[in-house]
Amino acid sequence: MKLKSEILSLPSMATSETVKPYNDNDADKKQQVADMFDNISGTYDFLNHFLSLGIDIIWRKKAIRTLKASQPQYLLDVATGTGDFALEALRMLNPRKIIGVDISQGMLDVAKEKITKKNLGDRFEVVLGDSENLPFAADTFDAVTVAFGVRNFENLEKGLADICRVLKPGGKAVILEFSKPKRFPVKQLYHFYFNHITPRIGKVFSKDHRAYSYLPESVAQFPDGQRFTDILHRVGFSQTECRPQTFGICTLYIGTK
Ligand SMILES: C[S@@+](CC[C@H](N)C(=O)[O-])C[C@H]1O[C@@H](n2cnc3c(N)ncnc32)[C@H](O)[C@@H]1O
Repeated sequence: MKLKSEILSLPSMATSETVKPYNDNDADKKQQVADMFDNISGTYDFLNHFLSLGIDIIWRKKAIRTLKASQPQYLLDVATGTGDFALEALRMLNPRKIIGVDISQGMLDVAKEKITKKNLGDRFEVVLGDSENLPFAADTFDAVTVAFGVRNFENLEKGLADICRVLKPGGKAVILEFSKPKRFPVKQLYHFYFNHITPRIGKVFSKDHRAYSYLPESVAQFPDGQRFTDILHRVGFSQTECRPQTFGICTLYIGTK
């Protein structure tokens, strides 16, 4: 298995638009993101469901349901974090195997504890690895999922292109990511909650004072909606879909290789 320092040593291709977790730090975005998730791994699950008022569970189930008809047997969950999305996919889709990949060893350690506790080691495996240089051969997986991960990629196009590469022809990528609601009053309420409430609660409960300020900043900068499906097309996906959830707070994207 590669060390974190090894997988993070790829050349940085960050753009001037890049929002990083720590502005006072010279490390590239990828290293900063890995460090930030290492810092918050212990409180991540609790804060995730608490701050989203549990709605993220509905979004996750909806995303996984889009794969039910194709009955994927070999699944890759990119940016798997603490493994909740992959565990839900395992439960709902009953595939032969899921591999979860992430750049944060801290997050993967939490996932590993869950895997051991549930005795799922033969069906769910986690690997330290980078979405922009996935340690798998081309045309390997029936489906790839990413929940709340793409916004954190250092080079979005490179990450999505590599996801396309490891998918089998005809395989689907299912991607969930926060987006920006556009209509009054949800837009204003969301803005207030995300920019003022979330960072304060995050600061109290997590060990990282910047993590929950980086969250709204990275969502604001992220190319959501049509801009994202345009990128999916550019890197090789077809039949792309963009399905806004809960007034556009989150969006489910689907692309076929
Ligand atoms: C917000 S968490 C989402 C975790 C999980 N998918 C979930 O739904 O709870 C984002 C995850 O993306 C991972 N990540 C960020 N950039 C990555 C990259 N280039 N390759 C792999 N994982 C990455 C982070 O380490 C973090 O665990």
